[in-house]
Amino acid sequence: MKFEKSKIVKDQLEIACIREASLISSDFHTLGMSRRIIGKSENELLSFYNTYKKHFKFSTWAYPVVIGSGERSTILHARPTKKNLYDGDLVLVDLGVKYNGYCSDVTRTWPVGERFSKEQKTIYQIVLSAQKAAIKRACPGSTLDEIHEYCRKSLLEGLLSKGIIKSGKIDKYFPHKTSHWIGRDVHDECPHQYIDKSPIILSPGMCFTIEPGLYFKGTCSKYEGIGVRIEDVILVTDEGNEVLSRAPKEIEEVECLRSLAV
Ligand code: GLY
Ligand code: MN
Ligand code: MN
Repeated sequence: MKFEKSKIVKDQLEIACIREASLISSDFHTLGMSRRIIGKSENELLSFYNTYKKHFKFSTWAYPVVIGSGERSTILHARPTKKNLYDGDLVLVDLGVKYNGYCSDVTRTWPVGERFSKEQKTIYQIVLSAQKAAIKRACPGSTLDEIHEYCRKSLLEGLLSKGIIKSGKIDKYFPHKTSHWIGRDVHDECPHQYIDKSPIILSPGMCFTIEPGLYFKGTCSKYEGIGVRIEDVILVTDEGNEVLSRAPKEIEEVECLRSLAV
């Protein structure tokens, strides 16, 4: 039996809600990145987002906000703690609001201080390049499995080309899937395949995330303690796709926001 199309292909009203949820979530990220946070704690950063949420009276979090700084950025879904935020560390923030019952799911990773370190920048650039390459593949006729394989390959090539790993094994650094469907639930219930195991072919109106990440945990390398994930919400269109979340992610944009933070 195949899933009913309406479960996975969103109508115009549903798309409008996911778009709005994604834009609001993006605003939260931009606001967070514009905030001076050195010496504050992860919990205080969460309080900032929660305070701001009151301005959006109609929105609730689609899932508990993830905040992991320093080596905690390598935890896939770190809940904020009283740990202080230190200059020189990265902070990974994964948040999404629900708008009219529809979810968004957006992750940004940025420096607690003003700039990425050399090692952080190297890893961030590999993840960003893989994400952008994967987004280009998100178009009618493709599948989430194809996008995942492509993303994995991009991450692997990035790590090999920088000499960060020597073999073709990447699961240790990228231990999750690239995508999940999104809609009324943050992880909308459909798997990547139909029940008869044939892959779901992407078509206009489908919404999902693209969220590559690299996490250096237990590596004994100069990259130890670095975790980077970049996640956006994608809508498949007739022409290809639209990225519904708009928070800054280019290194120059992020460093500019961090240097202007107040
Ligand atoms: N925020 C949960 C996820 O990225 O899947
Ligand atoms: Mn996600
Ligand atoms: Mn997420």
